[in-house]
Amino acid sequence: MNIFAIDTSCDETACAIVKGRRVISNTIYSQILIHKKWGGVVPSLAKRAHEEKIDIVVHSTLEKFIRFLNLHNKNYHIENTPKEAFHYIDAIAVTQGPGLAVALEVGIKKAKELSNQYHKPVIPVNHLEGHIYSSFVQNSKGNPSADFFFPYLSLIISGGHTSIVLFKNHCTYEVIGETIDDAAGEAIDKAAKMLNLGYPGGPVIERLAEGALQRDRYHFPRPMIKTDTLNFSFSGLKTSFYYRIKNMSDEQKHIMLKEFASSFQEAVFDTVIKKTNIAIKKTGITRLIAGGGVIANRRLRYELTSLVKKFKGNILFPPYKYLTGDNAAMIAVAAYYRLLTNKFDKKNTAIDRIPRMLLT
Ligand code: KG4
Ligand code: ZN
Repeated sequence: MNIFAIDTSCDETACAIVKGRRVISNTIYSQILIHKKWGGVVPSLAKRAHEEKIDIVVHSTLEKFIRFLNLHNKNYHIENTPKEAFHYIDAIAVTQGPGLAVALEVGIKKAKELSNQYHKPVIPVNHLEGHIYSSFVQNSKGNPSADFFFPYLSLIISGGHTSIVLFKNHCTYEVIGETIDDAAGEAIDKAAKMLNLGYPGGPVIERLAEGALQRDRYHFPRPMIKTDTLNFSFSGLKTSFYYRIKNMSDEQKHIMLKEFASSFQEAVFDTVIKKTNIAIKKTGITRLIAGGGVIANRRLRYELTSLVKKFKGNILFPPYKYLTGDNAAMIAVAAYYRLLTNKFDKKNTAIDRIPRMLLT
């Protein structure tokens, strides 16, 4: 089954085509350079950039797909036109939410347009569901194999979300913990901004932290860690960080930059690990799945892997780095399972954006 997908939920214009769980074609146009100078995503600029790039991203994805088909079919040659490409596509998936309303709109409009033109059903997908399925994408060796054992505990740690989800079965979820204020990636981005490290902060904080002599020199607070709730809160940590560096000169900050980066990262990750530990104990589930931009971080992966080892469990990570951040391949794979398990409303063609869409 071949699924074409679009994700324009935030600052990436993304399209992909998958064959089941295998990514055949993938294109991501990142708007980072546009938003960098503002220190975060500016919705009006995001909308305009999505509108400007969506056709190019769609076409480049279709072209790569046709190249793939021609390479694998020696008996006939497929013409390089969208019409020919859609002949081999079963459905069009699109991110319906959560995300920026004006950005989501661009992807949904394009999905409907292609659906009308080529008579393919549209499968609306929750962006968070995409992050969960990013770990089910097959790598070049065909792993993970398809023998999935539900339920899983899923962690979504990104710039917009920090959630612990009970992944009960394909396309069936229960959110059992989430942030009550900032997301983990958002907190890291804000700390990076206070240190004048630019946007997004995660990768640079990770690089600096790796060079720190003392990993947790400043031991910033770990909010809500003493209670056994599975919810997170990162805004107190951000405030504490602000007051710690407020009266320091740029030179002082520079001298301890690696230690600041590392201590901040440790506070965030320690919180994630402690909450995950509680979730494992509460649910008894030791099979984990992790997704979201922050999951690219090597220190966090190491900590999570060590935690599940303690419980003799295992953890699946997205097999390629591009699958941690926003992309459409994960949306396509989620849609593939919706189609396979019949979990989408075929008759509903009035798909509209849901900026605060919940995962159910
Ligand atoms: O999943 P994503 O691309 O977008 C959302 O859906 O939010 O996540 C972006 C977030 C940003 O906050 C970014 O700083 C963070 O992921 N991030 C990282 C790393 N790479 C990206 N955080 C920590 N370490 C990284 N290596
Ligand atoms: Zn995302």
